[in-house]
Order: sequence, then structure tokens, then C-alpha cells
Amino acid sequence: MFKLFTCSSNRVKAVARALSYKTNSISGVLQLQVMLNVNNIRKDFPILNRKVNGKPLVYLDNAATSQTPKQVIDAIVDYYSNYNANIHRGVHTLSQEATDLYEASRIKIQKHFNAKHAHEIIFTSGTTHGINLVANGFASLLNKNDEIIVSALEHHSNIVPWQMLCERTGATLKVIPMNLEGELLMDVYDTLLTAHTKLVFVNHISNALGTINPIEYIIEKAHNVGAAVLIDGAQSCPHIKPNVQELDVDFYVTSAHKMCGPTGVGMLYGKEAWLNKLPPYQGGGEMIDQVSFKKTTYAALPHKFEAGTPDIAGGIVFGTAIDYMNSIGFEHIAAYENELLGYATKALQTIEGLKIYGTASNKTSVISFNLEGIHPYDVGTILDKLGIAVRTGHHCTQPIMDFYKIPGTVRASFAFYNTKEEIDILVSGVKKAKMMLS
Ligand code: ALA
Repeated sequence: MFKLFTCSSNRVKAVARALSYKTNSISGVLQLQVMLNVNNIRKDFPILNRKVNGKPLVYLDNAATSQTPKQVIDAIVDYYSNYNANIHRGVHTLSQEATDLYEASRIKIQKHFNAKHAHEIIFTSGTTHGINLVANGFASLLNKNDEIIVSALEHHSNIVPWQMLCERTGATLKVIPMNLEGELLMDVYDTLLTAHTKLVFVNHISNALGTINPIEYIIEKAHNVGAAVLIDGAQSCPHIKPNVQELDVDFYVTSAHKMCGPTGVGMLYGKEAWLNKLPPYQGGGEMIDQVSFKKTTYAALPHKFEAGTPDIAGGIVFGTAIDYMNSIGFEHIAAYENELLGYATKALQTIEGLKIYGTASNKTSVISFNLEGIHPYDVGTILDKLGIAVRTGHHCTQPIMDFYKIPGTVRASFAFYNTKEEIDILVSGVKKAKMMLS
């Protein structure tokens, strides 16, 4: 099933901006044409063939974790079948081969994100690990006069580590507020920045609402006052390909499992100068230069931040997942998902009493919604009985739920392997849930 479709002008501009690829202006209307063979792509994902509660699985919880293509599954099996050994430690062949594969993956990640150096890519256990690594490092660089800015749209993992940092250092935490559409108020952000601002932390895309934040503006303004910026890219990397040098961002973090890779592995990009300035996060093997009871010196980047035996297979197949997504093409992925977003938004809006939270003009394929008077958990439970996987609850973003004065939402999040037929099943499932629960 080849899909040829066009996007509306605003969406195309947003997607094109995010992806830096070309659009054609035809009769004053920007058009983007994309070919995606979804049926073939779905064959790569064995799990999409299974049934849940006797129904074909409709997997719409991609913002929590993406599914895994057989290319990645095969690469994990290949590693454990042929290369399993500890890395950076042995002269024996297996260890050297495993090390070569691991370091080759680091270079793939470097190239994907366009980092200047491979040693600016630190393997982590995921986005949360990367954020905590940076927060811990800044504990020795901040004092009580310093200020940190986060946004109202953050995941708990991009709030709590900074609160802990403020408790340790006495620094002040400020918050960029949001509007009802789920967009950050940039005019207020301007007023929060002062000569005391040392760090700004914002997600690239909100996991709860799908808002794509104006990170280029946020980074530029922060740099004008001498502050460093960390961008949480957990939700952006499945949809777009960030260029860290072009963004001039200081730190960028993400997780492999959001982008067709395995859980338990991720990466922290940091500018070389910043990573050299920060102290190690964890002590242990691999992160040292010399150890004695008098004094220990640390290894150079990236090993300074990679204590202990890592998830070697995970690190290697993170690169495989990146290859897989690039083989489909991020411009195709973003445009197709955008089409799914438009289709699903329109269809869900026809259900009386359904309210969508997060209607930013620049958003990705996430729809958070509630049915009037019905708890999201109940809707999610009925959808599950129909084989439809969505996330329900506060999505680790309690401040967003407090802002809307709701306990949580039902969240459907789409990936490039989802189809309009699956969205039709979601919509009829939501109608059924409404009928049963009203
Ligand atoms: N942060 C992930 C989500 O949004 C787990 O579901």
C-alpha cells in the first residue's frame, strides 16, 4: 500500500523547518509528497501480528516505547550468538570485535546527530540517566545565586533532577508557563532570563501533548545570557533528526527504545568543552586513567562518564535502529505521521464530549484526550479489551495535568508503522467505551 499524500501548508512548513528539507510551492500552497510502503514496513515488526484479548493488536503507545523491527531483534541475537564479550578490556578476539562494534555504533550515533566528535556521545541507560548525569555534574558548578529554567511541559525526569540540584546548591528553579493550547509562552521566557541564569532545560517535544517546542529560539536566548541548554529529545528523535551543531545545543539526551531500539540504552550528547568541565557521574572500572589509594585520575572522554560494563548489545543495536529509521527516511516518517495526526484529530473530534488536550500549531503525532465525565483509566481498560494499546494517566507530567485540572488523559501516539485503519479502530473503540461508561 503506497501512500501518496499532501500536507497542509502550516504543517509542511513546520515539518520542513524541523527537518530542513525542501517543499514545493504550487499555486501558493506548499505541498509535500511522500511515498511510504506501510504494509511492507509492518512486516518488519513481528509483534504487530499478535493478538491481544483475541483482537489484532493496535499499538498506539509509541510515545511510551516504539516497537522493535526484526533487523534490530536479529542484531541482538547476532551479538549474543557471535560476539558476546566485555569491551575495552580484552586482547582476545571476541573482546576486540565487540569493542569495534560498540565504537562503530557510537560513530553512527555521532553522524546521525551531527556531533563534531564521537567522544561527545556518551552511552547512557536512557534519557533519565543522561539528565541526571548532567544535573549531578552541575552541582559542583552552581551556587545559591544561580537560576535554572525549566518549562511547564516537562516530564518528571526533566523536573525532579533539577529540583534535587536546587536543593543541593541553593539555586532557584523558574518555570516557563504554557497556554491552554499547550504552547510555551516565549514572551515570559524572555523575562525569566537574567544574568544569573546558568541552565535552561526544555524538552524538544512534549510527551503528554505532542507540542514541538521552539528550541532554536530557547537556545539562542539562553546563550545570550551565558546559560547552557539541555534539550530532552526522548520524544523528538522518533520523528525528526536533530542536528546538534546546527542547533548549537550544549546537551541533548535521548533513549534508543523510542526510536526502534532496545530499552536500557540511550545517549547523552554534550559539547566537548562542557563534558570536560563536568566531573564524572559514577566511579568504577573503565572511567579511570590511574587508580591509587592516594589519588585517582580519570579517563578522557567519553569513558570518563561510562563507568562499569555497559549494555553492550544495546549500544551496538542502537546503531542498527538508527540505520533502520534512516533507511525509511525521517522526512517520510514525519510527513506520514503528520498525516495520521490530522486524520485521527479530525475523526476523534467528531465524538461528542471528547476533548483534546494539546492543540499547538506545531505538534507531532500524539493525541491526549478525555471523554467528558469518564476517567481515562476506564477508557484505556475498555480499549485494551479491544486490543488497542494506549497510555492512560498523568504520563509522568503531573504539572500539565494540574494545569488542566484533570487527573490524566488517554493518550494515543502514532508511529510510521500505524495505519488509518488502526485509527478507525481506535475511534470506534472510543465510541464503544463512551457508550458503555456513560
Ligand atoms: N516517557 C514515556 C511516556 O511518555 C514513558 O510514556
